[in-house]
Amino acid sequence: MTGPDPATELPSLTELPGDRLRVRAAGQEFVVDASCPHRKGRLAHGFVNAATLRISCPLHHSSFDLRTGCRVRGPGDDPLTVYRAGIWPGYYAAEQVWLPASEQLLEWGEEFHELMLGDDLRMTAFRTAITEAVRPGDVVLDLGTGTGILARWALEAGAARVYGIDLNETVLATAAERLAEAGFADRFIPLSGLSFDLELPERVDIVISEIMGNLADNENFSAILDDARERFLKPGGAMLPSLVDSFLVPVTAESAHAQLTGEGPRDAGGPEAFAALLAARGAQDPFSLYYDTVLPLAGHLASPRLIRRYAPGAAPEPGTETSYRVPLAYTVQRDGVFTGFKGYFVAELSDSVALDISGDDIEGRTTSDSWKHCYLPVERPVRVRRGDRIALTFSRRGGRDGNPFGQTYSWEGQVLSGSRVVDRFAQSTGPAAG
Ligand SMILES: C[S@@+](CC[C@H](N)C(=O)[O-])C[C@H]1O[C@@H](n2cnc3c(N)ncnc32)[C@H](O)[C@@H]1O
Repeated sequence: MTGPDPATELPSLTELPGDRLRVRAAGQEFVVDASCPHRKGRLAHGFVNAATLRISCPLHHSSFDLRTGCRVRGPGDDPLTVYRAGIWPGYYAAEQVWLPASEQLLEWGEEFHELMLGDDLRMTAFRTAITEAVRPGDVVLDLGTGTGILARWALEAGAARVYGIDLNETVLATAAERLAEAGFADRFIPLSGLSFDLELPERVDIVISEIMGNLADNENFSAILDDARERFLKPGGAMLPSLVDSFLVPVTAESAHAQLTGEGPRDAGGPEAFAALLAARGAQDPFSLYYDTVLPLAGHLASPRLIRRYAPGAAPEPGTETSYRVPLAYTVQRDGVFTGFKGYFVAELSDSVALDISGDDIEGRTTSDSWKHCYLPVERPVRVRRGDRIALTFSRRGGRDGNPFGQTYSWEGQVLSGSRVVDRFAQSTGPAAG
């Protein structure tokens, strides 16, 4: 199943409760005030330019950028309020396979940052938690500040100053620009580079960060946060998130499996480009990689099992470091075809905010647009029955090809019916773990 083609889809405007307007254009969705800030013209009767992503009021032709709300033409002083800007949920579908965004972190451009900024689940959770956790006068580190959105919420909550670290100079410049526009130029200190290589002039009261992959540690977040806690945080200071649990559950996802043996992931550029990508990684087959895929709860074959609990505020307990090996056993709860594992995390961001990305409702936004879920496929689908067992050994080894965010994941095990081994699987994103 594929989503609508954004190039041919006509813009659509729908009035929503609360005097808001939903605009869909060019594969993106925006929710804005329904009336023009100039003289209250009804924007539902206005004109949307899908190429420039602007909306014009029918009354006096004031025109606004749908992503930022800034007025770009026509009368009036005030911007248009934008409540949500991001990918149109209908643009992707359940079980649609995408390349793992975490593996491409060093190449993320403006487009991926915009996708994150439009990810309702992520944005609402972080905004609420930062507003709750940052106290007036706090000195804050926003590690991996990106476009500076978390820093902005910390500043709005009264932070005395925020250090914003990012290794991506272009996106860091955007953060500095946006925060200056918002009046925070003197309280935001951008620092360019990899956090391991940087020093701060003072220790901070709270480290805020959103550097989790959909399996939590697929952007090496625990090593990065351990280092930040040791070198940047005041004694007794806080880490946000404060706790991150990651889970794996066996699933049936036959459509996802078929994409891997057919066209390849949605964004791989077709079968030939996908084969070239796998060859460049030294991967034997499409099953030697994990993917970003929304995997519905209805496809769970057993109860999810915790693979790792990480508490950023404390030194890791032995056996929970960045390289680990975890044996897990599942009892199959319904008949189906086992095609792999779904991975996801649940993070405690503050005392009252948990961010759980396991949901599967794309329209209702219980799933995350930017994370989706982590799909760890097995090469041969296996028909399983209620009462069968799946034994899994999951392991992670830190470091891959000199990439500070790389790692090797391996998932191997067997499917058992009674005492009979029905099939075995052994997949790895790199050379087999020792
Ligand atoms: C998932 S994005 C989040 C951006 C922003 N905080 C937000 O919430 O929209 C993570 C950002 O952290 C940066 N990053 C991740 N690890 C880093 C590290 N160890 N040092 C510096 N930058 C890092 C990446 O370049 C990326 O811009």
